[in-house]
Amino acid sequence: MNRRNFLYSFSFTAAAIILGGCEKNSENNNKVVEKFNESQKLPLKLSKNETAGIFKPFTQELKIPKEINFKNIAKAKFNAQKSLVAIYKDKKTEVLTFQGDLPNPTIRIKKGDNFELDFTNSLEKPTIIHWHGVIVPEEMDGHPKDAINTQITKEYKYKINQRAGTFWYHTHPHGRTGEEIYYGLSGLYIIEDDDEKRLNLPSGEFELPLIIQDRRFDKKANLIYKEIALDNNGILGDVVLVNSTPFPYQNVKNTKYRLRILNSSSVRTYRLAFEGIESFVLIGTDGGLLEKPIIVKDILIAVAERIDIVIDFKDKKIGETVTLKTLGFKEASNFITNQKYPNLGAKIDIMKFKVTQLSTNDSVKLPRNLSSILKIKESDASKVRTITMEIIGGGIWTLNKKPYDMNRVDERVKLGSTEIWEIKNTVHMAHPFHMHGVQFQVLDRTGKIDFPTDKGWKDTVLVMPGETVRIIIKFTMPGLFVYHCHILEHEDHAMMANFLVE
Ligand code: C2O
Ligand code: CU
Ligand code: CU
Repeated sequence: MNRRNFLYSFSFTAAAIILGGCEKNSENNNKVVEKFNESQKLPLKLSKNETAGIFKPFTQELKIPKEINFKNIAKAKFNAQKSLVAIYKDKKTEVLTFQGDLPNPTIRIKKGDNFELDFTNSLEKPTIIHWHGVIVPEEMDGHPKDAINTQITKEYKYKINQRAGTFWYHTHPHGRTGEEIYYGLSGLYIIEDDDEKRLNLPSGEFELPLIIQDRRFDKKANLIYKEIALDNNGILGDVVLVNSTPFPYQNVKNTKYRLRILNSSSVRTYRLAFEGIESFVLIGTDGGLLEKPIIVKDILIAVAERIDIVIDFKDKKIGETVTLKTLGFKEASNFITNQKYPNLGAKIDIMKFKVTQLSTNDSVKLPRNLSSILKIKESDASKVRTITMEIIGGGIWTLNKKPYDMNRVDERVKLGSTEIWEIKNTVHMAHPFHMHGVQFQVLDRTGKIDFPTDKGWKDTVLVMPGETVRIIIKFTMPGLFVYHCHILEHEDHAMMANFLVE
């Protein structure tokens, strides 16, 4: 769909979208959520699903991305291209990839080392890669203004200057980020350092990346992107891919595993829990390890957030199964979305872990202290800014009521200074707020929901409907960067702005 048609169909139904948030229509809307809550426990009822008949859930083994480890190579090559990939066994799906297959490779690099990559754009339109959460100079960051034309190659080169953690990369062209990530252009990016190595966390076969994305497919296994204008509130799918594998399974031993989880869906927030294991341990957030592990029963992960957890299968016998599921999170929105697909409140079984082998060594003990996080003091802040999340003009998602303009500087920040940003959500939908070029800390939030992830370094924070979240940021990298809502359809719209650090 071209930009003009897109905007036209959007404003055409804007009234309906707005009504979704108000009293009169919320009854209707709740019914949909309920329906999906109680009777639509996916994928048990895949008969509703267009892909029913082409595959059975939990029969495909989890794919593990191959790794590009900068310990072994000096420079990598990515080429954004159309590819045919077997997402469903025996079927080919047209997707976008960086190296011809999905999942895209995981980048692994050590603090202090140089990252070098040649990126060629073999797509029809301009695009650019952004290294989400990695603090790099402006020219390396993948600002939408730096999108390169088709058949052009850009050289990325920068030094890793931050602590260990789980990050990710994705393309970032203005207005098309959602579509490109949807079709495949994202991957995991792991930074290691000596402090973390010393902790002896589960590694090798006991460290699994889980990249979670809900998607829509037709009967021929083709991906379906936007279908109706309501999808501009965010694309919800009925098939959950983990590492580009639909509803997979993974064989495990009865011991501890470290799971690095990334939500790179379009809009869905997951409340992750394990059926068969009551609690697990949160050890890290967007910007790396927490100070101390936190035991949780379930955990929220919004779009673009990462969580680092340790789960122990030690009480499981051979043959037993543990299911990773989302309990649903209807608190995130009462906006009407595409009723063909499970809403934000839907419970969905995502993948199964099958215990198939006894572990021969269970020497891994989780340390009590993981890292130290120096708290940024409120008294260090020289300025307080307020950013509001709003819907204007009958349906345009914005920050501070200003639709994104790539060439406008919205906030000017002094290099080296510390600031408090109050992110105020004025609408009936939760939005994950993300900033480039920094890692920040969450000071507090006005809402009632407790986010254990607020205790760690963050680059993306979920702001609930009607809530204000205060974050504190020290700006150490000069240049022009963006901040935006990370619901992909919102950022593509206009819910983005520029800040200049100088
Ligand atoms: Cu995932 Cu502008 O970022
Ligand atoms: Cu980013
Ligand atoms: Cu948003």
